[in-house]
Amino acid sequence: MDKLVVHGGKTISGSVDISGAKNAILPLMAATLLVEGKSTIRRVPDLRDTRTFLRLLDIIGAHSVFMDSKLTIDASNITSFEAPYDLVKTMRASFYVMGPLLARFGEARVSLPGGCAWGPRPVDYHLKGFEKLGAEIILKKGNIIARAKKLKGAQIHFEIPSVGATANITMAAVLAEGVTQITNAAMEPHIVQLCDVLKKMGAQIEGIGTTTLTIHGVKELRPVNVTTIPDMIEAGTFLMAGALMGKITLNKVDPSHLSIVTQKLEQAGATLGINDESITIEKCNELQAVDITTDVHPGFPTDLQAQWIALMSVANGSSHITDTIYNDRFSHVPELNRLGAKITLKKNRAFVSGVKTLKGAPVMSTDIRASASLVIAALIAKGRTDISRIYHIDRGYEKIEEKFKSLGAEISRESE
Ligand code: UD1
Repeated sequence: MDKLVVHGGKTISGSVDISGAKNAILPLMAATLLVEGKSTIRRVPDLRDTRTFLRLLDIIGAHSVFMDSKLTIDASNITSFEAPYDLVKTMRASFYVMGPLLARFGEARVSLPGGCAWGPRPVDYHLKGFEKLGAEIILKKGNIIARAKKLKGAQIHFEIPSVGATANITMAAVLAEGVTQITNAAMEPHIVQLCDVLKKMGAQIEGIGTTTLTIHGVKELRPVNVTTIPDMIEAGTFLMAGALMGKITLNKVDPSHLSIVTQKLEQAGATLGINDESITIEKCNELQAVDITTDVHPGFPTDLQAQWIALMSVANGSSHITDTIYNDRFSHVPELNRLGAKITLKKNRAFVSGVKTLKGAPVMSTDIRASASLVIAALIAKGRTDISRIYHIDRGYEKIEEKFKSLGAEISRESE
């Protein structure tokens, strides 16, 4: 198992290219299962989750070639409709194959994802949505079996605008008979991209980027050639590091996806230069404590909550950070406290009292974004920090240590 070794307290400077978005690429890969023929996706981040999804595609029988961030997937000869537990338990997004397989072949078997480090994380909206589209859903030996001769358009409302359920149901509805309307749909940038790509494939979708999606089912779709949108979470992570450690420029970003984050950073005292596809941030002389509450897009992303807590741990004053999406997503807090942060928790809210400095210590990654918060904290902490179990970070960040190293940070990967 690898670990990251960080000698903190250095300044960073220079520029870094942001990769394609993890949360965009996974549903896009699933969407290629909707058609016969070869689809091409560019700017594909080489992540552990990308590789896991490729293994899943291989099991299903879709042929893929992944080289130099270009991915081609040919789903002409599907041989299995099953996503096994081994893969689903390591990556919940495996569930994304259910919508496309059900829509195209009338059957899908996907292992039911269990709970995760953030709490229960149910998939009931996905399943109720498929049922509304006319599918029969059976749970057998931990697997969900979904069957439908032909899906039929329906009216579907989500209690919470779920990203995963919006993507899955949309991918199913594009090939259903008749009209599907999803209300209270998610409108994260990766959902917008998925809908745009489905449209390019020949789907008829109205209301893209709003909370109501109207989908007119079509008989068939065609393969597609697309480029993944920039990863706003990776970008946000680097912005927070810059606010603490130096002047850096992020290239190949979409600042419009990050409005709330750049706004909060400015409120905390950071100086930002925002252009069409780049953002420059300068280290704050005196970082001020700023509260945040996570929310669905365009609110503050829950995927940047952990990194914001790391930032606030050395801010001037006290802040509270509330996660309204996942009540239990705070496994980074005890690890940050090991580095000298002063954070307490009450239900879904972290209370952070800013300290002058953090001090290096061995810490443990617990999930993708929690690990990113530990990297930020380790980079500002005095002395050496060893971050173990970094397979979590490899799931969602492409070459994070190389990117920080190129900015002048002292960080390396070692085998434990
Ligand atoms: C996606 C992202 C994840 C991000 C999250 C919220 C991917 C691969 N993952 O996860 O990084 O943190 O969005 O932005 O894109 N819910 C239900 N029932 C359901 C589905 C969701 O109750 O069937 C609840 C969840 O427990 C949660 C909320 O809805 O409280 C939002 O979850 P959702 O948007 O579905 O998250 P994911 O798609 O799993």
